[in-house]
Amino acid sequence: MAKIAIIGGTGVTSMPGLTVHHREMVKTPYGAPSCPLIHGELNGVDVIFLARHGRRHTIPPHLVNYRANIQALHEIGVTHTIALAAVGGITDDCVDQAIVIPDQIIDYTYGRAHTFHSGTRDKFEHIDVTEPYASSVRERLLAAAEKAGVAHIPNGVYGVTQGPRLETAAEIVRMERDGCTIVGMTGMPETSLARELGIDYACCAMVVNRAAGKSVNGISFSDIEANVRGSVANVQRVLAEAVSTGFS
Ligand code: HPA
Repeated sequence: MAKIAIIGGTGVTSMPGLTVHHREMVKTPYGAPSCPLIHGELNGVDVIFLARHGRRHTIPPHLVNYRANIQALHEIGVTHTIALAAVGGITDDCVDQAIVIPDQIIDYTYGRAHTFHSGTRDKFEHIDVTEPYASSVRERLLAAAEKAGVAHIPNGVYGVTQGPRLETAAEIVRMERDGCTIVGMTGMPETSLARELGIDYACCAMVVNRAAGKSVNGISFSDIEANVRGSVANVQRVLAEAVSTGFS
């Protein structure tokens, strides 16, 4: 039986529409996850919700314990995960409040605990991340966005930076040359850790600002907040539809 988790990012530390049943703190060999897992119901379907940055949004992207988060989901039997992300838009189509379902990642992070293979397990594997996102979840998100009538960009390359600072304009030029269409700080190692534990995982990103150097007015935090607020309702419609159509 599929068990679905939603990892909430910036602006999504709780989920309106989620009926909360109970909270569970799961201890893992890697430490504590960002906050207790919330067991609840979305659109009549049991889901687990985890706020990546903690309940009060206090854990910056480079200090998120990604291993504890993914291990905790795995320990309670999660099979499928939808990860939400607030990102900057690099390419011209990735305007403020666009919803993007990325299909690729370039990882620019460093120094993060990025694997469960830390020399203590019997054997390690070179996991295949040719397609970093699980088609089972990505396709469900795409179908859900269609059905919910939410405009979206059906693919994209998510460049993951270390943060917590934003990028320089030259870094964004380089990332665009590399092929990145959006930029955020949390897609890795979360995505590959989920693959290591066999969790089907995909991302639903909302563009909350134009990336550095891409807008004449620069990046404004009040605009980011407004764009988060403006996107959350659409993201929630996609999620409600995605979970209700079920996963296999
Ligand atoms: N860069 C990196 N991460 C982000 C951005 C950005 O412009 N916006 C939201 N998360």
